[in-house]
Amino acid sequence: MNWLPRPAEGNAWVAPSLLSADFADLGPDIADMTAAGADLLHLDIMDGHFVPNLTFGPLICGAIRRLTDLPLDAHLMISRPDQYLAPFAKAGIDALTIHVEAESPVSETLAQIVELDMKLGISLNPGTDLEEILPYLGQLDLVLVMSVQPGFGGQKFNPVAVEKIAELARRRETEGHRFLISVDGGINGIDTGPACRQAGADILVSGSWLLGADDRPGRVDQLRGDS
Ligand code: DX5
Ligand code: ZN
Repeated sequence: MNWLPRPAEGNAWVAPSLLSADFADLGPDIADMTAAGADLLHLDIMDGHFVPNLTFGPLICGAIRRLTDLPLDAHLMISRPDQYLAPFAKAGIDALTIHVEAESPVSETLAQIVELDMKLGISLNPGTDLEEILPYLGQLDLVLVMSVQPGFGGQKFNPVAVEKIAELARRRETEGHRFLISVDGGINGIDTGPACRQAGADILVSGSWLLGADDRPGRVDQLRGDS
């Protein structure tokens, strides 16, 4: 398993969302993002039920695993993550992020993910109160704060995420947790990314803004907080 420590003060790790990559030819996009300085890859798994869109599953995750050594975080936007945990582990996923709003029993599903030796993430939608994930904070390696309603790339950032990030960072300090804070949806290196970084985000997920650019290395630096 391949995972990341907390980033340096003032910086964030950069996680390209492959939802904006070329699925007819993923190799060059992954190589290009790696050369540009990406720190991990964010894989958006959608089931057409939890969200109104479909993407890919463990088979394609396994193919992506063969293309890169970067840590892989699978963001499971699926109603029953508990039914698919072993195939994602077998595919070589490093961190599995389930939604607290999904239908699987949360505690049992988290325990199974640990059993399968993957890092443990929980995500929550913009409309979901932070209270919902508080019971699990002590076990988590990752909290993925959604700054858009999940399902599609290219949506507008919802600033409610900034408040949640700040509260998570505060609780991590006072309660002594280890989780990294990630944020996903409408993230750019101009205003939304820096605002999340300043609030305490450790990982910035970016799809359309990062992969849609000609100067990807420059955008990785902007997201990281180096320029
Ligand atoms: C949305 C996905 C995101 C998406 C982000 O449901 O979870 O990871 O790819 O895309 P942008 O950065 O374009 O908002
Ligand atoms: Zn995502």
